[in-house]
Parts: sequence; structure tokens; C-alpha cells
Amino acid sequence: MWCRSLDNLKAISSPHSLVDQPPSKKAEQSILEVWGGRPLQGKVAISGAKNSALVLMAGALLASESCRLRNVPSLADIQSMAKILETLGVKIQQDQDILDLDPTHITKSNAPYELVSKLRASFFAIGPLLARMGVAKVPLPGGCAIGARPVEIHVRGLKQLGAEVYIEHGVVHAYASRLKGAKIYLDYPSVGATETLMMAATLAEGETILENAAQEPEVADLADFCCSMGAHIAGAGTKTITISGVSKLHGTDYSIVPDRIEAGTFLMAAAITHSDILLSPVVPEHLTAVIAKLKSIGFQLTPDAHRGLRIQSKGVHVGTEIETLPYPGFPTDMQALFMALLTLSEGNSVVTETVFENRFGHVPELVRMGADIRIKGNVAVIQGVPFLSGAPITGTDLRATAALTVAALAAQGKTSIAGLQHLDRGYANFEQKLRGLGARVERVQTPISSYQS
Ligand code: EPZ
Repeated sequence: MWCRSLDNLKAISSPHSLVDQPPSKKAEQSILEVWGGRPLQGKVAISGAKNSALVLMAGALLASESCRLRNVPSLADIQSMAKILETLGVKIQQDQDILDLDPTHITKSNAPYELVSKLRASFFAIGPLLARMGVAKVPLPGGCAIGARPVEIHVRGLKQLGAEVYIEHGVVHAYASRLKGAKIYLDYPSVGATETLMMAATLAEGETILENAAQEPEVADLADFCCSMGAHIAGAGTKTITISGVSKLHGTDYSIVPDRIEAGTFLMAAAITHSDILLSPVVPEHLTAVIAKLKSIGFQLTPDAHRGLRIQSKGVHVGTEIETLPYPGFPTDMQALFMALLTLSEGNSVVTETVFENRFGHVPELVRMGADIRIKGNVAVIQGVPFLSGAPITGTDLRATAALTVAALAAQGKTSIAGLQHLDRGYANFEQKLRGLGARVERVQTPISSYQS
């Protein structure tokens, strides 16, 4: 199939096209209507990892030749990141889940505020731009619904690599004729900071050692991607990563790992509806904590030979304790999703969120559906209830909205969920995949005034 330029795709899917609609259109919003109580069956295809695709797109800035990314998920965030890279001079073509990025003629080193403010992940451009161009001006990403999301660990690490870095008018300015390898201890195993510093170090002079680094699978995927471009990286996926700088990186053709959080989301959908479904492709090792928890509360999980994972319910599931931690601990991105399941467990559960300071936005909405949850600081105590009731609810962030959808699949009656702009950032064809498993979900347009959540 011939490559369609991104412009064609943007014309089809650009969120901005809504702005050009007649006034009547702007007064509407998309709502997901979910009729609960239906078991799921069959197989669901898991897309490429959002949190890998976004950073690998930024990583392509490091190369002096074109890069091809495969298994790229169809998400609003991917389109936003592509738009930001295009403003920097990267030429991008997309054909289904294949993205071709040509960074050979980067013209600018400053990412525009109006785009960066819409996509925090665009801050990932600062490391590659600085390493490749010797200069980078990237607006501070700012906070979001789940927390302040500061970037001081990124900034401190870039300074340790020899860059002059200062913040002025909300923009991070970074300069370095050539970065110099350094030994950097991260105060917290920040995923983004590990990725920023690892990318910057690939083109630095000499050796860089990142200690207390993040171990998430997306960090390892980024390292494999950079190595496929000729970078010298060892230890990615462990707490200590060693990077030996090279003078330039060549192009590559690289396939992104499956999305472990999307897989976890469908595991929750199956578990809460007592269903037997097969997910594929899945890397079970990327979901060790989630799989262990599901088994401990009464579910059967079976990997199969073809990168599949089967989940079966054995009837009742019991409550448990969860504490979110950096990988390989229980992932914070699965906290809201697992809590939705625990609202219907037999007995008590306790969920402690240690990674982000404000990641219980889903709790009031679950309570509206009849869940019994009490919050004290970063701890939520859940008393299992016999059933949830459908209600009009609103998602506050990406994983909260997914968790509410999971809860709605088990609730009695119909649930109407607003906040789908969050869902579209991180789940490709979400309702189509749910319908493919037998769920009854519909995305409808409704006047904003008529929707009371
Ligand atoms: C990545 O965010 C993911 N996003 C998040 O996924 C994920 O929740 C998070 O890692 C943790 O696993 C992408 O990869 C695009 P962090 P990131 O830096 O890199 C604090 C989703 O739902 N911190 O590991 O921003 C920070 O405030 C999203 O897909 C500092 O204090 O996460 C937070 O409390 C949500 N200073 C904690 O560390 C810093 O300089 C973890 O943040 C950097 C981080």
C-alpha cells in the first residue's frame, strides 16, 4: 500500500478539524455508553506500547538517517508527537502501523509551546535535540491531573553531562557543543529522566553511567532501539545503565514492544466480567506483578506458545493489598484498573499509590456506581460490594477513564462515560476491541448541556 503522508491522515483524524465545524458541533461531546453484565469471549489483539512509541519517535531525532518504526499504535498522542517532530523539520510518513521518520534535515531546535502543552511526552525531545544539535529549547511540560510532574531530575542530569541548562519564561534552554559522559545517580528511578539521559548520552564523549535508573520495559525497548541505530548501551532494564558515546547514529527498522498496560486493561475487563479470553501478543514477563496479583485473588492465567496470555475466572475473587512502585513493582498505570476489579472482590482491599501524588481521580466516580471506597492520603480502602450500578460518570485522566469503562462492563444497567479525550490518548480502537469480545459499547455524540455526570 502506498504511503499516505501524515497530512492526509491529519486531515482525516486531526482533532483540530472539530474547531472548523459549524458552531452546533462544538456544543457536543462524545460519550461511551456501556451496557454491563455481559461476559466476554474470544481473542483481543494488543497494540504497540504507547509509552515506548512516544519516546522512540523522539529518539529518532538522534539518527543521521531515516528510521522506520513498526507496530506503532493508532493514538491521538502519536499524532501529536508527530506534529511536534514535523515542526522541528522531521519528515514523517505513516502507513497503518508503520511510521517512517526522516530526521536528516532538522531545521529547528525549539518545540512550540502550543503543541508541547498538549503532550507532556514531547519533553522527550530535549535529550536527542541537545545531543544532535548542541541546543534545545523545550517548554516545561507542566503538570497534569495525576500530579505536578516536575523534570528536575532530567535537568540535573543534563547539567552533569556538561550542558548549560536554564529555565526562562517556562522554557528549558539547554546548550552543549558536545556532551561529556558522567556518572549520574537519579534521586528517583524516573522513567522519563532515565530515557532522556540515556538518549543524550548515546552521542556524548566518553562513558555515562546511570545509577538508580528506571527498569521499565519501555526503557529497555528504547535502549534496544538506540542500539539498533549503533548506540552502545548495556544494562537497560536494570538499575545501572552504561552508555559509551559514539559520534553519530545510523537509521534503523524497529518494531515496538506490545503495550503491557493495554494488555493489563483487557485482563481487568475479563476478570471483572468472569470471562475467559485470550490476549495476543503479550510479553508475560512485562506483567509479572499484575499476573501474580490476579492469581493470588483467584484467577487462572496461562501463557501460550504464540505470545498469547489466557485468563480464566474461577468464580469468586477475594480482596488484596496493592502498593504501586517503580518497575518491577506493581505498576502505577494499573492502579485505577485493578481498583475497579477490587470493588467487586469478596472482603477488604487496600491500595497505596506511591508514585504519583494525585492518582485517585477514578474513586469518586466508582463510588457513584456503588463502590465502597474510602481515601486517606495516598491510601484507598475498598470494601467489596455485591454489585455496581450503571451511572453517568466522567473520566479525569487516561487510566481512570479506562478503569471506569472496566467497571461499567460489570455494572448493572447502562453507564455513560464522558472524558473520552483521555481514553483516545492511550487506547487504539478501544471500543471496537471490546465489541469484538462481545461487550455492548457505543460511542455517541450528545449535547454537553444534557450530560450530567
Ligand atoms: C512515565 O511517565 C509514563 N509516561 C507514565 O505513564 C507512567 O505512569 C510513569 O512513567 C511511571 O511508570 C510515559 O512514558 C509517556 P516518572 P514519567 O518520571 O516518565 C516524579 C500513562 O498512563 N519525578 O517515572 O513522567 C514524578 O513527579 C502514563 O501511560 C520527579 O519528581 O514518570 C512522579 O511522581 C501516566 N522529578 C514519579 O517521579 C523528575 O524529574 C514518577 O515519574 C521526574 C519525575
